[in-house]
Amino acid sequence: AAVVLAPLAPSLAACAAPEDVPKVEFGAKLPIPPLDAGTLDSAGGSPVRTFHLAPQAGTHEFVAGKAADTMGYNGAYLGPTLRASRGEKVRVVVENRLTEETTVHFHGVQLPAAADGGPHAMIAAGATASPEWMFDQPAATLWYHPHPHGNTEKQVGLGLAGMFLVDEPAPAAWGAAALPHEYGVDDIPLIVQDRRLDPSGKITFDPSGNSIGTLGNSIAANGVLGAVLPVTTQRVRLRILNASAGRWFRFGFADHRRFHMVASDGGLLAAPLELDAVQLSPAERAEIIVEMAPGESVMLKSFAPDLGRVNPADAFGGGREFDVVRLDAGATLTPSAALPAALAELAAPPDTRVATSRSFTFSGRQINGKTMDMNRIDFTAAPGGAEVWYVDNVNAFQHNLHIHGVQFRLLDIDGAAPPPERAGWKDTIPLMPRERNRLAFRMPKYADAQHPYMFHCHLLTHEDQGMMGQFVVADGSAPAAAAGAGGSAG
Ligand code: C2O
Ligand code: CU
Repeated sequence: AAVVLAPLAPSLAACAAPEDVPKVEFGAKLPIPPLDAGTLDSAGGSPVRTFHLAPQAGTHEFVAGKAADTMGYNGAYLGPTLRASRGEKVRVVVENRLTEETTVHFHGVQLPAAADGGPHAMIAAGATASPEWMFDQPAATLWYHPHPHGNTEKQVGLGLAGMFLVDEPAPAAWGAAALPHEYGVDDIPLIVQDRRLDPSGKITFDPSGNSIGTLGNSIAANGVLGAVLPVTTQRVRLRILNASAGRWFRFGFADHRRFHMVASDGGLLAAPLELDAVQLSPAERAEIIVEMAPGESVMLKSFAPDLGRVNPADAFGGGREFDVVRLDAGATLTPSAALPAALAELAAPPDTRVATSRSFTFSGRQINGKTMDMNRIDFTAAPGGAEVWYVDNVNAFQHNLHIHGVQFRLLDIDGAAPPPERAGWKDTIPLMPRERNRLAFRMPKYADAQHPYMFHCHLLTHEDQGMMGQFVVADGSAPAAAAGAGGSAG
Protein backbone atom coordinates (compact mmCIF):
# COMPACT_ATOMS: atom_id res chain seq x y z
CA ALA A 1 0.00 0.00 0.00
CA ALA A 2 1.14 3.52 -0.76
CA VAL A 3 2.49 5.44 2.19
CA VAL A 4 1.11 8.94 2.49
CA LEU A 5 2.61 11.31 4.97
CA ALA A 6 0.10 13.88 6.09
CA PRO A 7 1.11 17.47 6.68
CA LEU A 8 0.48 16.91 10.39
CA ALA A 9 3.20 14.29 10.77
CA PRO A 10 5.03 14.76 14.07
CA SER A 11 7.71 17.35 14.28
CA LEU A 12 10.22 16.96 17.06
CA ALA A 13 11.32 20.55 16.80
CA ALA A 14 7.88 22.02 17.44
CA CYS A 15 7.94 22.44 21.21
CA ALA A 16 9.15 20.93 24.44
CA ALA A 17 7.51 17.65 25.37
CA PRO A 18 5.47 17.66 28.60
CA GLU A 19 7.50 14.69 29.68
CA ASP A 20 9.01 15.70 33.00
CA VAL A 21 7.24 13.34 35.35
CA PRO A 22 6.94 14.68 38.88
CA LYS A 23 7.87 12.09 41.47
CA VAL A 24 4.78 10.62 43.11
CA GLU A 25 4.68 8.75 46.41
CA PHE A 26 2.18 5.89 46.33
CA GLY A 27 0.03 5.73 49.44
CA ALA A 28 -3.31 7.50 48.99
CA LYS A 29 -6.21 5.09 49.06
CA LEU A 30 -7.79 4.55 45.64
CA PRO A 31 -11.20 6.25 45.75
CA ILE A 32 -14.10 4.19 44.42
CA PRO A 33 -16.71 6.27 42.58
CA PRO A 34 -20.06 5.94 44.39
CA LEU A 35 -22.28 3.22 42.96
CA ASP A 36 -25.60 4.63 41.83
CA ALA A 37 -28.36 2.18 40.94
CA GLY A 38 -30.85 5.04 40.51
CA THR A 39 -34.41 4.79 41.71
CA LEU A 40 -37.30 2.89 40.17
CA ASP A 41 -39.95 5.34 39.03
CA SER A 42 -43.27 3.69 38.25
CA ALA A 43 -45.22 6.88 37.70
CA GLY A 44 -45.88 6.23 34.02
CA GLY A 45 -46.92 2.58 34.50
CA SER A 46 -43.92 0.41 33.72
CA PRO A 47 -40.93 1.09 35.99
CA VAL A 48 -38.13 3.30 34.73
CA ARG A 49 -34.74 3.20 36.44
CA THR A 50 -34.03 6.89 36.89
CA PHE A 51 -30.62 8.47 37.45
CA HIS A 52 -29.64 12.07 38.17
CA LEU A 53 -26.47 13.64 36.88
CA ALA A 54 -25.53 17.23 37.61
CA PRO A 55 -22.42 18.41 35.76
CA GLN A 56 -20.85 21.15 37.86
CA ALA A 57 -17.62 23.04 38.46
CA GLY A 58 -15.42 22.36 41.48
CA THR A 59 -11.85 22.08 42.64
CA HIS A 60 -9.75 18.99 43.22
CA GLU A 61 -6.24 18.48 44.60
CA PHE A 62 -4.09 16.21 42.46
CA VAL A 63 -1.14 17.53 44.43
CA ALA A 64 -1.69 18.07 48.17
CA GLY A 65 -2.32 21.71 48.96
CA LYS A 66 -2.66 22.70 45.29
CA ALA A 67 -6.26 23.04 44.15
CA ALA A 68 -7.06 22.60 40.46
CA ASP A 69 -10.23 23.87 38.81
CA THR A 70 -12.22 20.83 37.73
CA MET A 71 -15.63 19.63 36.61
CA GLY A 72 -17.54 16.62 37.84
CA TYR A 73 -20.92 14.94 37.86
CA ASN A 74 -22.65 15.30 41.25
CA GLY A 75 -19.29 16.32 42.72
CA ALA A 76 -16.02 18.04 41.96
CA TYR A 77 -14.34 15.40 39.79
CA LEU A 78 -15.48 12.38 37.71
CA GLY A 79 -18.95 10.96 38.42
CA PRO A 80 -20.88 8.12 40.04
CA THR A 81 -20.86 4.62 38.54
CA LEU A 82 -24.35 4.14 37.15
CA ARG A 83 -25.64 0.58 37.08
CA ALA A 84 -28.66 -0.99 35.37
CA SER A 85 -29.70 -4.35 33.94
CA ARG A 86 -30.40 -5.52 30.45
CA GLY A 87 -34.11 -5.32 29.71
CA GLU A 88 -34.65 -2.30 31.93
CA LYS A 89 -35.89 1.05 30.80
CA VAL A 90 -33.63 3.82 32.07
CA ARG A 91 -33.84 7.60 32.22
CA VAL A 92 -30.96 9.94 33.02
CA VAL A 93 -32.04 13.36 34.24
CA VAL A 94 -29.17 15.72 33.44
CA GLU A 95 -29.25 19.05 35.18
CA ASN A 96 -26.52 21.28 33.80
CA ARG A 97 -25.09 23.33 36.68
CA LEU A 98 -22.09 24.48 34.65
CA THR A 99 -21.89 28.00 33.31
CA GLU A 100 -21.45 26.61 29.79
CA GLU A 101 -23.35 24.18 27.59
CA THR A 102 -22.59 20.47 27.62
CA THR A 103 -24.03 17.12 26.56
CA VAL A 104 -23.90 13.67 28.15
CA HIS A 105 -22.97 10.96 25.67
CA PHE A 106 -23.50 7.32 26.63
CA HIS A 107 -20.43 5.70 25.12
CA GLY A 108 -20.99 2.12 23.97
CA VAL A 109 -24.70 2.09 24.70
CA GLN A 110 -26.89 0.70 21.92
CA LEU A 111 -29.62 3.31 22.11
CA PRO A 112 -31.76 5.51 19.88
CA ALA A 113 -29.84 8.45 18.40
CA ALA A 114 -32.14 10.92 20.15
CA ALA A 115 -30.85 9.66 23.54
CA ASP A 116 -27.20 9.27 22.55
CA GLY A 117 -26.01 12.68 23.78
CA GLY A 118 -23.89 13.60 20.77
CA PRO A 119 -23.01 17.17 19.75
CA HIS A 120 -26.57 18.00 18.66
CA ALA A 121 -27.94 17.25 22.13
CA MET A 122 -26.66 20.44 23.77
CA ILE A 123 -27.95 21.24 27.24
CA ALA A 124 -27.67 24.97 27.96
CA ALA A 125 -26.27 26.19 31.27
CA GLY A 126 -29.05 25.81 33.82
CA ALA A 127 -31.16 23.58 31.58
CA THR A 128 -32.23 19.96 32.11
CA ALA A 129 -32.52 17.05 29.67
CA SER A 130 -33.89 13.55 30.30
CA PRO A 131 -32.80 11.00 27.71
CA GLU A 132 -34.26 7.52 28.10
CA TRP A 133 -33.91 4.15 26.46
CA MET A 134 -34.29 0.42 26.98
CA PHE A 135 -31.06 -1.47 27.72
CA ASP A 136 -30.79 -4.23 25.16
CA GLN A 137 -27.17 -5.40 25.05
CA PRO A 138 -24.90 -7.84 26.91
CA ALA A 139 -23.37 -7.01 30.29
CA ALA A 140 -20.54 -4.52 29.80
CA THR A 141 -18.43 -1.70 31.19
CA LEU A 142 -19.71 1.38 29.37
CA TRP A 143 -19.13 5.04 30.20
CA TYR A 144 -20.52 8.53 29.88
CA HIS A 145 -18.88 11.85 29.07
CA PRO A 146 -19.64 15.21 27.42
CA HIS A 147 -19.61 15.65 23.63
CA PRO A 148 -20.04 19.37 22.83
CA HIS A 149 -18.52 19.90 19.40
CA GLY A 150 -15.12 21.59 19.75
CA ASN A 151 -15.16 21.52 23.56
CA THR A 152 -15.01 17.83 24.43
CA GLU A 153 -11.32 17.64 25.33
CA LYS A 154 -11.63 20.46 27.84
CA GLN A 155 -14.78 19.15 29.54
CA VAL A 156 -13.63 15.52 29.71
CA GLY A 157 -10.15 16.67 30.70
CA LEU A 158 -11.46 18.73 33.59
CA GLY A 159 -13.14 15.63 34.98
CA LEU A 160 -16.48 14.96 33.30
CA ALA A 161 -16.44 11.18 32.92
CA GLY A 162 -18.05 8.24 34.68
CA MET A 163 -18.78 4.55 34.22
CA PHE A 164 -22.10 3.00 33.27
CA LEU A 165 -22.31 -0.72 34.03
CA VAL A 166 -24.96 -2.90 32.48
CA ASP A 167 -25.60 -6.34 33.96
CA GLU A 168 -27.41 -9.42 32.75
CA PRO A 169 -30.71 -9.73 34.62
CA ALA A 170 -29.89 -13.22 35.95
CA PRO A 171 -26.12 -13.45 36.49
CA ALA A 172 -26.37 -17.08 37.60
CA ALA A 173 -27.51 -18.01 34.13
CA TRP A 174 -24.58 -16.65 32.17
CA GLY A 175 -21.58 -18.70 33.20
CA ALA A 176 -19.73 -15.62 34.41
CA ALA A 177 -21.36 -15.57 37.83
CA ALA A 178 -18.03 -16.84 39.13
CA LEU A 179 -16.30 -13.60 38.20
CA PRO A 180 -15.66 -11.21 41.08
CA HIS A 181 -18.69 -8.92 41.17
CA GLU A 182 -18.88 -7.12 44.51
CA TYR A 183 -18.53 -3.46 43.58
CA GLY A 184 -15.67 -1.72 45.35
CA VAL A 185 -14.59 -4.94 47.07
CA ASP A 186 -13.40 -7.35 44.37
CA ASP A 187 -14.93 -5.56 41.36
CA ILE A 188 -13.09 -2.27 40.95
CA PRO A 189 -13.74 0.52 38.45
CA LEU A 190 -10.46 2.09 37.33
CA ILE A 191 -10.65 5.31 35.36
CA VAL A 192 -7.11 6.05 34.18
CA GLN A 193 -6.15 9.43 32.75
CA ASP A 194 -2.89 11.17 32.08
CA ARG A 195 -3.01 14.69 33.50
CA ARG A 196 -0.86 17.54 32.23
CA LEU A 197 -0.38 19.38 35.49
CA ASP A 198 1.46 22.68 35.71
CA PRO A 199 3.72 23.50 38.69
CA SER A 200 0.74 24.94 40.58
CA GLY A 201 -1.08 21.60 40.26
CA LYS A 202 -3.64 22.84 37.72
CA ILE A 203 -4.86 20.86 34.71
CA THR A 204 -3.49 22.21 31.45
CA PHE A 205 -4.01 21.34 27.82
CA ASP A 206 -1.51 21.33 25.01
CA PRO A 207 -2.44 23.91 22.43
CA SER A 208 0.51 23.07 20.18
CA GLY A 209 -1.48 20.64 18.06
CA ASN A 210 1.23 17.97 18.19
CA SER A 211 0.57 14.63 16.55
CA ILE A 212 -1.79 12.96 19.03
CA GLY A 213 -2.85 15.93 21.13
CA THR A 214 -2.47 16.58 24.83
CA LEU A 215 -0.18 14.16 26.66
CA GLY A 216 0.04 14.35 30.44
CA ASN A 217 2.99 14.05 32.81
CA SER A 218 1.03 12.46 35.69
CA ILE A 219 -1.28 9.47 35.88
CA ALA A 220 -4.53 9.68 37.83
CA ALA A 221 -6.48 6.56 38.80
CA ASN A 222 -10.04 7.51 39.79
CA GLY A 223 -8.70 11.05 40.11
CA VAL A 224 -5.75 10.30 42.39
CA LEU A 225 -1.99 10.22 41.69
CA GLY A 226 -0.09 7.49 43.51
CA ALA A 227 -3.16 5.52 44.58
CA VAL A 228 -3.11 2.21 46.44
CA LEU A 229 -5.88 -0.39 46.25
CA PRO A 230 -6.18 -2.53 49.39
CA VAL A 231 -6.99 -6.07 48.22
CA THR A 232 -9.03 -8.36 50.47
CA THR A 233 -9.84 -11.23 48.10
CA GLN A 234 -7.74 -13.77 46.23
CA ARG A 235 -8.89 -12.47 42.85
CA VAL A 236 -9.77 -8.91 41.88
CA ARG A 237 -11.55 -7.70 38.80
CA LEU A 238 -10.34 -4.37 37.45
CA ARG A 239 -12.63 -2.60 34.98
CA ILE A 240 -10.07 -0.39 33.30
CA LEU A 241 -11.11 2.63 31.20
CA ASN A 242 -8.55 4.71 29.35
CA ALA A 243 -10.20 8.13 29.77
CA SER A 244 -7.18 10.07 28.47
CA ALA A 245 -7.35 12.51 25.59
CA GLY A 246 -4.53 11.00 23.57
CA ARG A 247 -2.40 8.64 25.66
CA TRP A 248 -2.08 4.96 24.76
CA PHE A 249 -1.57 2.69 27.78
CA ARG A 250 -0.21 -0.85 27.93
CA PHE A 251 -1.38 -2.13 31.29
CA GLY A 252 0.45 -4.92 33.06
CA PHE A 253 2.05 -5.66 36.40
CA ALA A 254 5.56 -4.71 37.52
CA ASP A 255 6.50 -8.36 38.11
CA HIS A 256 5.04 -9.33 34.71
CA ARG A 257 2.60 -11.71 36.38
CA ARG A 258 -0.02 -13.03 34.02
CA PHE A 259 -3.66 -12.10 34.39
CA HIS A 260 -6.91 -12.90 32.60
CA MET A 261 -8.79 -10.46 30.44
CA VAL A 262 -12.50 -11.30 30.58
CA ALA A 263 -14.23 -8.45 28.74
CA SER A 264 -13.62 -5.79 26.13
CA ASP A 265 -15.64 -2.63 25.37
CA GLY A 266 -19.00 -4.28 24.66
CA GLY A 267 -18.96 -7.24 27.03
CA LEU A 268 -17.45 -10.59 27.90
CA LEU A 269 -14.96 -12.39 25.73
CA ALA A 270 -15.79 -15.96 24.75
CA ALA A 271 -13.28 -17.25 27.32
CA PRO A 272 -10.78 -15.76 29.77
CA LEU A 273 -7.70 -14.66 27.89
CA GLU A 274 -4.33 -15.02 29.61
CA LEU A 275 -2.08 -12.01 29.02
CA ASP A 276 0.82 -10.16 30.58
CA ALA A 277 -0.22 -6.78 29.16
CA VAL A 278 -3.24 -5.22 27.52
CA GLN A 279 -3.03 -2.08 25.42
CA LEU A 280 -5.87 0.46 25.41
CA SER A 281 -6.23 3.56 23.26
CA PRO A 282 -8.40 6.43 24.51
CA ALA A 283 -11.98 5.32 25.38
CA GLU A 284 -11.26 1.58 25.18
CA ARG A 285 -12.04 -0.64 28.19
CA ALA A 286 -10.76 -3.99 29.42
CA GLU A 287 -11.90 -6.03 32.38
CA ILE A 288 -9.08 -8.06 33.86
CA ILE A 289 -8.85 -10.54 36.73
CA VAL A 290 -5.64 -10.62 38.72
CA GLU A 291 -4.74 -13.07 41.44
CA MET A 292 -2.86 -11.97 44.57
CA ALA A 293 -1.03 -13.83 47.33
CA PRO A 294 -1.55 -12.77 50.97
CA GLY A 295 0.65 -9.89 52.05
CA GLU A 296 2.13 -9.06 48.66
CA SER A 297 2.24 -5.74 46.84
CA VAL A 298 2.36 -5.27 43.11
CA MET A 299 2.27 -2.18 40.91
CA LEU A 300 -0.15 -1.95 38.01
CA LYS A 301 1.92 -0.16 35.41
CA SER A 302 1.54 1.11 31.94
CA PHE A 303 4.49 -0.24 29.99
CA ALA A 304 5.67 1.60 26.92
CA PRO A 305 2.93 0.88 24.38
CA ASP A 306 3.46 -0.95 21.12
CA LEU A 307 2.95 1.88 18.65
CA GLY A 308 3.55 -0.02 15.45
CA ARG A 309 5.10 2.20 12.82
CA VAL A 310 5.26 5.31 14.99
CA ASN A 311 8.87 6.50 15.11
CA PRO A 312 10.10 5.47 18.60
CA ALA A 313 12.05 8.74 18.79
CA ASP A 314 8.86 10.75 18.46
CA ALA A 315 8.02 12.04 21.93
CA PHE A 316 4.57 13.04 20.70
CA GLY A 317 3.82 9.40 19.96
CA GLY A 318 3.48 9.05 23.74
CA GLY A 319 5.50 5.84 24.06
CA ARG A 320 6.56 5.96 27.69
CA GLU A 321 5.98 3.97 30.86
CA PHE A 322 4.17 4.90 34.11
CA ASP A 323 3.16 3.50 37.48
CA VAL A 324 -0.65 3.57 37.76
CA VAL A 325 -1.94 2.06 41.01
CA ARG A 326 -0.38 -0.26 43.59
CA LEU A 327 -2.30 -3.31 44.77
CA ASP A 328 -1.59 -4.19 48.42
CA ALA A 329 -2.95 -7.58 49.50
CA GLY A 330 -4.03 -8.11 53.11
CA ALA A 331 -2.36 -10.70 55.33
CA THR A 332 -5.33 -13.01 54.73
CA LEU A 333 -7.45 -13.03 51.59
CA THR A 334 -11.00 -14.28 51.12
CA PRO A 335 -10.88 -17.17 48.62
CA SER A 336 -12.44 -16.42 45.21
CA ALA A 337 -14.26 -18.78 42.87
CA ALA A 338 -12.18 -20.36 40.13
CA LEU A 339 -12.35 -18.64 36.75
CA PRO A 340 -14.91 -20.23 34.44
CA ALA A 341 -13.48 -21.86 31.32
CA ALA A 342 -16.08 -20.18 29.10
CA LEU A 343 -17.67 -16.78 29.56
CA ALA A 344 -20.08 -15.97 26.78
CA GLU A 345 -21.27 -17.11 23.42
CA LEU A 346 -20.55 -14.30 21.01
CA ALA A 347 -22.95 -14.01 18.09
CA ALA A 348 -21.13 -14.19 14.76
CA PRO A 349 -20.59 -10.85 13.02
CA PRO A 350 -22.84 -10.28 10.00
CA ASP A 351 -21.93 -11.97 6.73
CA THR A 352 -19.77 -9.44 4.90
CA ARG A 353 -20.89 -10.71 1.48
CA VAL A 354 -24.34 -9.24 2.01
CA ALA A 355 -23.27 -6.21 4.01
CA THR A 356 -23.12 -2.60 2.89
CA SER A 357 -19.45 -1.80 2.60
CA ARG A 358 -17.97 1.61 3.30
CA SER A 359 -14.43 2.93 3.26
CA PHE A 360 -12.97 5.57 5.52
CA THR A 361 -9.55 7.15 5.26
CA PHE A 362 -8.20 8.87 8.36
CA SER A 363 -5.65 11.53 7.53
CA GLY A 364 -4.51 14.55 9.52
CA ARG A 365 -7.72 15.76 11.13
CA GLN A 366 -10.03 14.56 8.36
CA ILE A 367 -12.08 11.49 7.52
CA ASN A 368 -12.40 10.95 3.75
CA GLY A 369 -11.03 14.43 3.17
CA LYS A 370 -13.70 16.15 5.27
CA THR A 371 -13.84 17.74 8.67
CA MET A 372 -16.97 17.65 10.82
CA ASP A 373 -19.84 19.83 9.68
CA MET A 374 -22.81 19.79 12.03
CA ASN A 375 -25.06 20.31 8.98
CA ARG A 376 -23.67 17.49 6.84
CA ILE A 377 -24.91 13.90 7.09
CA ASP A 378 -22.29 11.64 5.55
CA PHE A 379 -24.57 8.70 4.84
CA THR A 380 -27.89 7.09 5.65
CA ALA A 381 -28.07 3.45 6.72
CA ALA A 382 -30.85 0.90 7.10
CA PRO A 383 -32.09 0.08 10.62
CA GLY A 384 -30.37 -3.13 11.72
CA GLY A 385 -28.50 -3.25 8.41
CA ALA A 386 -25.32 -5.29 8.07
CA GLU A 387 -22.21 -3.17 7.54
CA VAL A 388 -18.58 -3.83 6.74
CA TRP A 389 -16.17 -0.93 7.14
CA TYR A 390 -12.66 -0.58 5.75
CA VAL A 391 -10.82 1.98 7.83
CA ASP A 392 -7.36 3.21 6.83
CA ASN A 393 -5.01 5.39 8.82
CA VAL A 394 -2.61 6.85 6.25
CA ASN A 395 -0.66 8.90 8.79
CA ALA A 396 2.63 8.18 10.55
CA PHE A 397 0.92 8.65 13.94
CA GLN A 398 -2.05 7.08 15.71
CA HIS A 399 -5.77 7.68 15.43
CA ASN A 400 -8.60 5.58 16.73
CA LEU A 401 -12.21 4.98 15.74
CA HIS A 402 -15.37 5.08 17.82
CA ILE A 403 -18.85 4.50 16.39
CA HIS A 404 -21.90 5.64 18.34
CA GLY A 405 -24.87 3.41 19.06
CA VAL A 406 -23.30 0.07 18.13
CA GLN A 407 -20.88 -2.64 19.17
CA PHE A 408 -18.84 -4.07 16.32
CA ARG A 409 -16.38 -6.86 15.62
CA LEU A 410 -12.93 -6.33 14.26
CA LEU A 411 -12.47 -8.81 11.39
CA ASP A 412 -8.85 -8.21 10.47
CA ILE A 413 -5.97 -5.75 10.44
CA ASP A 414 -4.16 -5.61 7.09
CA GLY A 415 -5.76 -8.98 6.38
CA ALA A 416 -4.46 -10.68 9.54
CA ALA A 417 -6.67 -11.86 12.41
CA PRO A 418 -7.02 -9.25 15.17
CA PRO A 419 -5.23 -9.84 18.46
CA PRO A 420 -7.54 -11.88 20.74
CA GLU A 421 -8.06 -8.94 23.12
CA ARG A 422 -9.76 -7.10 20.25
CA ALA A 423 -11.72 -10.09 18.91
CA GLY A 424 -14.81 -9.50 21.08
CA TRP A 425 -17.38 -6.69 21.11
CA LYS A 426 -15.77 -3.32 20.49
CA ASP A 427 -16.99 0.25 20.12
CA THR A 428 -13.51 1.80 19.88
CA ILE A 429 -10.38 0.47 18.16
CA PRO A 430 -6.89 1.87 17.67
CA LEU A 431 -5.95 2.82 14.12
CA MET A 432 -2.20 2.43 14.01
CA PRO A 433 -0.05 4.14 11.37
CA ARG A 434 -0.60 2.92 7.81
CA GLU A 435 -2.86 0.07 8.85
CA ARG A 436 -6.23 -0.97 7.48
CA ASN A 437 -8.81 -2.25 9.96
CA ARG A 438 -11.85 -4.11 8.68
CA LEU A 439 -14.88 -4.40 10.93
CA ALA A 440 -18.47 -5.62 10.76
CA PHE A 441 -21.62 -4.88 12.70
CA ARG A 442 -25.34 -4.26 12.53
CA MET A 443 -26.61 -0.70 12.52
CA PRO A 444 -28.85 0.37 15.42
CA LYS A 445 -32.39 -0.94 15.02
CA TYR A 446 -33.90 2.47 15.79
CA ALA A 447 -34.96 4.46 12.72
CA ASP A 448 -34.86 8.24 13.16
CA ALA A 449 -34.06 10.48 10.21
CA GLN A 450 -33.83 13.55 12.45
CA HIS A 451 -31.08 12.51 14.86
CA PRO A 452 -27.63 11.45 13.63
CA TYR A 453 -25.08 9.13 15.20
CA MET A 454 -21.39 10.11 15.20
CA PHE A 455 -18.29 8.22 14.15
CA HIS A 456 -14.96 9.78 14.97
CA CYS A 457 -11.41 9.67 16.20
CA HIS A 458 -11.52 9.49 20.02
CA LEU A 459 -8.23 11.36 20.40
CA LEU A 460 -10.04 14.31 21.87
CA THR A 461 -7.87 16.97 20.23
CA HIS A 462 -8.53 15.39 16.84
CA GLU A 463 -12.24 15.05 17.60
CA ASP A 464 -12.50 18.70 18.61
CA GLN A 465 -10.63 19.70 15.48
CA GLY A 466 -13.28 17.97 13.38
CA MET A 467 -12.16 14.38 12.84
CA MET A 468 -15.78 13.24 12.98
CA GLY A 469 -18.65 12.36 10.67
CA GLN A 470 -22.36 11.67 11.07
CA PHE A 471 -24.87 9.12 9.80
CA VAL A 472 -28.56 8.61 10.24
CA VAL A 473 -30.41 5.33 10.47
CA ALA A 474 -33.67 5.63 8.56
CA ASP A 475 -36.31 3.40 7.01
CA GLY A 476 -36.41 3.25 3.26
CA SER A 477 -32.70 3.68 2.74
CA ALA A 478 -31.47 1.10 0.28
CA PRO A 479 -28.75 -0.74 2.19
CA ALA A 480 -26.36 -0.88 -0.78
CA ALA A 481 -26.81 2.69 -2.02
CA ALA A 482 -25.90 4.62 1.08
CA ALA A 483 -22.58 6.30 0.48
CA GLY A 484 -21.40 9.88 0.18
CA ALA A 485 -22.75 13.10 1.55
CA GLY A 486 -26.26 14.44 1.36
CA GLY A 487 -29.51 14.26 3.25
CA SER A 488 -30.81 16.46 5.98
CA ALA A 489 -29.05 17.28 9.20
CA GLY A 490 -30.58 16.43 12.54
CU1 C2O B 1 -16.74 8.49 23.81
CU2 C2O B 1 -18.35 10.16 20.43
O1 C2O B 1 -17.52 9.42 22.15
CU1 CU C 1 -7.14 11.02 15.36
